[in-house]
Amino acid sequence: MAEPSGAHRGVRGVVPPGDMSLDGKVAVVTGGAGGLGAAAARRLSREGCRVVVVDIDGDGARRVAGELPGMSIAVTADVSVEEDVERYLDEATHSFGRIDLHHLNAGIPGSVGGFPDLSAAEFDRVMAVNVRGTFLGLRGAFRIVSTVRASGGAGAWDFGALDARTYLEPGHEGA
Ligand SMILES: NC(=O)c1ccc[n+]([C@@H]2O[C@H](COP(=O)([O-])OP(=O)(O)OC[C@H]3O[C@@H](n4cnc5c(N)ncnc54)[C@H](O)[C@@H]3O)[C@@H](O)[C@H]2O)c1
Repeated sequence: MAEPSGAHRGVRGVVPPGDMSLDGKVAVVTGGAGGLGAAAARRLSREGCRVVVVDIDGDGARRVAGELPGMSIAVTADVSVEEDVERYLDEATHSFGRIDLHHLNAGIPGSVGGFPDLSAAEFDRVMAVNVRGTFLGLRGAFRIVSTVRASGGAGAWDFGALDARTYLEPGHEGA
């Protein structure tokens, strides 16, 4: 069957084109103080989102948030720390009442030196930020979606490149 014109293909499904407007949405961007995250925050703000800029670099997060054209807040948080992740999600929902989009962008490259020189401590740090941080952010977001759904609200979210809606359909076997 042909896809609707302009549809976005998610991991397991298709988002109808009418749902793609970002105007009025609430977007959380981790690692938003610099690089790709700051660029994403600016673009999302220009598209009409209220943006929550999250970063371990609090000064950078505040600077980026302060430069955005739309409403925004900055939250200083380490995405690898469970309490920090719960706090930035709490601050986002407390400030804006909802979260529509969670861009799990924060990450570190680790050593660019030779593999034999890679320390176990550095390996652990890369895993903590890039893997644990992504897990914590996703889990926190899913918990909020479940709460919203239980109270009768909509539960359509995007997590980075994943179309979470397909994972939240009734009867889905699980993500
Ligand atoms: N730039 C690239 O070519 C490239 C390629 C592949 C993947 N990526 C990934 O894309 C993402 C962004 O890349 P970038 O080049 O913009 O990186 P960057 O280093 O310019 O920015 C990363 C941001 O994440 C923040 N950050 C780091 N650790 C954090 C933590 N524990 N908690 C919260 N914030 C933290 C940093 O302070 C920084 O503001 C990263 O996850 C990176 O691994 C980038």
